[in-house]
Amino acid sequence: MTNNKVAIVTGASSGNGRAIAKRLAQDGFTVVCSDLHPDARPGGYEDDADTPTHEAIVRSGGQATFIAANATSMTEMTSLVGGAVDQYGRLDVMVNNAGIFTGLATIVDEKEEDFDKTIAVNLKGVWIGSKLAITQFLKQDVVGDTRGTIVNIASIGGLIGLAQEPGYCASKGGVVNLTRQLAVDFAAEQIRVNAVCPGFLATAMVRPFLDDPDLNTGLHAQSPWPNLGTANDVAQAVSFLSSEESRWMTGSSLTVDGGFTAR
Ligand SMILES: NC(=O)c1ccc[n+]([C@@H]2O[C@H](COP(=O)([O-])OP(=O)(O)OC[C@H]3O[C@@H](n4cnc5c(N)ncnc54)[C@H](O)[C@@H]3O)[C@@H](O)[C@H]2O)c1
Repeated sequence: MTNNKVAIVTGASSGNGRAIAKRLAQDGFTVVCSDLHPDARPGGYEDDADTPTHEAIVRSGGQATFIAANATSMTEMTSLVGGAVDQYGRLDVMVNNAGIFTGLATIVDEKEEDFDKTIAVNLKGVWIGSKLAITQFLKQDVVGDTRGTIVNIASIGGLIGLAQEPGYCASKGGVVNLTRQLAVDFAAEQIRVNAVCPGFLATAMVRPFLDDPDLNTGLHAQSPWPNLGTANDVAQAVSFLSSEESRWMTGSSLTVDGGFTAR
């Protein structure tokens, strides 16, 4: 059943974004799925990977569409937000989820182009998505308790140092503090901005860790919880932060990490 609200999810074709889009559709949102292309990344753990996310949602009775956009492009992201608003009349939730990880290396070996790419997608992409969503929210009336809500997908790498991930940790640390900063500027307008900080969980991005026996053992050894999380665990947190149940939460970064950062 629809809740008459509209959500955009970037990076919605695979992994966390796919689970988030499906979960928001179950919550009643009309979901505008966005990604570079509608097909899931190879190497993921989705059990229906050959069906694009928006089609899977529609098949199970939800409302969704797909608009291609590179999260690093102001032009394409402007078309995404404009297209969603033209089609559905307003925007209630923006989930800035698109992200990349270019591989393990200390700063000595990390390539400058990989650092630049990581900052462009993981940090500037969130900045662009937030800028456009807030610009739209400011044109809208308050519905329920909010004019609009942003959920940024950061990482535990935005809260602590993860070995051999300098660019990734820098980008996600930026997302965590951008989230706080935007919350301060727009609380008076009743615009909420929160982040989710997932720990390691099974998506195509993390497959290289999980397929490597040493890295896999290391990950499990560092995690207090006996098993790693799933994209659905992230989606549940996004569902909560997108709902009125979190109406007084803004500027927070919610860890979903099996206790990884609790040590
Ligand atoms: N998997 C994890 O363990 C984990 C942990 C912490 C945070 N995260 C974060 O969760 C988010 C999703 O990651 P995932 O694990 O689902 O990865 P994934 O690689 O499975 O999916 C990422 C999706 O983002 C899309 N994407 C990449 N660059 C893009 C761009 N420039 N514009 C638009 N879309 C783009 C890809 O096409 C892909 O569909 C990322 O921000 C990631 O940093 C993941």
